[in-house]
Amino acid sequence: MEILLDTANIETIKKYEAILPLAGVTTNPSIIKKEGEIDFFAHMKKISEIIGKQCSLHVQVVAKDKAGMLKDAKKILEQLGEETYLKIPLSPEGLKTIKSLKKEGFNVTATAIYTKFQAYLAVAAGADYIAPYYNRMENLNIDAKEAIAAMAHEIDRSNSQTKIVAASFKNIGQVTTALEQGAQAVTVAPDIIEQALAMPSISQAVDDFAKDWETIFGKGSTMA
Ligand code: E4P
Repeated sequence: MEILLDTANIETIKKYEAILPLAGVTTNPSIIKKEGEIDFFAHMKKISEIIGKQCSLHVQVVAKDKAGMLKDAKKILEQLGEETYLKIPLSPEGLKTIKSLKKEGFNVTATAIYTKFQAYLAVAAGADYIAPYYNRMENLNIDAKEAIAAMAHEIDRSNSQTKIVAASFKNIGQVTTALEQGAQAVTVAPDIIEQALAMPSISQAVDDFAKDWETIFGKGSTMA
């Protein structure tokens, strides 16, 4: 299982890089917008340094046509390194672009996946990751749970190396469901991780354990 962070906030990435078994960071232009006026590539380089080579960095192209997407991809690879995952929305132009990029051996994350058929096309085109948008699918009355299970089944059936990095979550229940349905990876916004780890019952249990320890061994005593 891989857990990625869906953010471009430097402080947040630093914080969660220390806490999580982090596998990578994903961004898109809307996530970048939240950071205000930044020097885009300098900012992304900083993220890459923080997460290190063992984590994957997924950066989205902005152009809408194949020629433009390839230009964006070239710039991303030049600036951030050839191991960067190029996030390409699965439009007809995006699919064309994915085919070209995979022919050249680059890493591709097919994104903006709303349907099983889109996912199957991306798998057949050899995308390294496919990113189904869980909450956005639910908003369109598409059964995200069933769709992710079908995607996982297709990957298995076709013996594909493609991984599902489920995305667009609004709560931790959606995240766990995606994993249970066979997503190999999830990319999660920090506020959802924050909520999941900030359960009052966890703090209560930790406080109770500490109190019981002190009852036996004395106030302020530690194990070390
Ligand atoms: C990540 O790769 C996606 O771009 C992102 O999760 C979309 O999330 P949203 O639906 O909250 O915009």
